Amino acid sequence: MLVAISLLMILGACQRAEANATGPINWYQKHQNCGGKMQSPIDISTKNVVHDPFLELFNLTEYEKTSGVIMHLANVGGHTARVLYSGTAVYIRGGSLPDKYQLDQFHFHWAKEDLTGSEHSVDWKHYPLEMHIVHHQAGMGTLQSAAARPHGLAVIAFFFKVCRRYSLST
Ligand SMILES: *[C@@H]1O[C@H](CO)[C@@H](O)[C@H](O)[C@H]1NC(C)=O
Ligand SMILES: *[C@@H]1O[C@H](CO)[C@@H](O)[C@H](O)[C@H]1NC(C)=O
Repeated sequence: MLVAISLLMILGACQRAEANATGPINWYQKHQNCGGKMQSPIDISTKNVVHDPFLELFNLTEYEKTSGVIMHLANVGGHTARVLYSGTAVYIRGGSLPDKYQLDQFHFHWAKEDLTGSEHSVDWKHYPLEMHIVHHQAGMGTLQSAAARPHGLAVIAFFFKVCRRYSLST
C-alpha cells in the first residue's frame, strides 16, 4: 500500500515536471551543471539513508547574537521573503563542516497549495513551507565569491508543518 502510494506520488511528480518544459527535470538542457547526482531539489528517501556516527552536531549558539547585528527584511521579486544580515558577523560551527560559516540571509519557499510548498521532499512528501538559512565559508570573501568554491556555501533547511492547534505561552 505504502509502495503504491509512493509510486503514485513519483509518477505525479514526474508528470508535473515533464508537463512544464522549464521544470527541474529539464534544467540540464540549458544549464550544464544540472542533471548530475548532486542537483537540487532532492528527495530524501528514508529507506536509503545511512546513519553516519561521525557526524557532529551543529553549533548554532550565535543565532542568538543581536548586538550590532543588522537584519533587513525584503520582499524579493514578489516570490519570497528574505532577511538579509549585515553588521556584526554571525557564524555557525560544527556539523562536520570544514570551517566556520558566516550567516548571510534566510528566506522561505512556499506555494499556493500546502502539498507543494517545500523545495525538497522526504519520500516524495513536500511540506507547506521550507526555510533556508544561507551561510558562506569564513575568509572566502562575499557570498558570491564563496559560491564559486566547492565547499563555499552551507545552507540549513527547515521544513514547516501547518497545525490546527496552537497555544501561546504565557
Ligand atoms: C512552468 O514553471 C515556471 C516556473 O515554475 C512557471 O513560471 C511557468 O509559468 C510554468 N509554465 C507552465 C506552462 O505551466
Ligand atoms: C559554540 O560556539 C561558541 C562560539 O560561537 C562557543 O563559545 C561554544 O563553546 C560552542 N559550544 C559548543 C557546545 O561547542
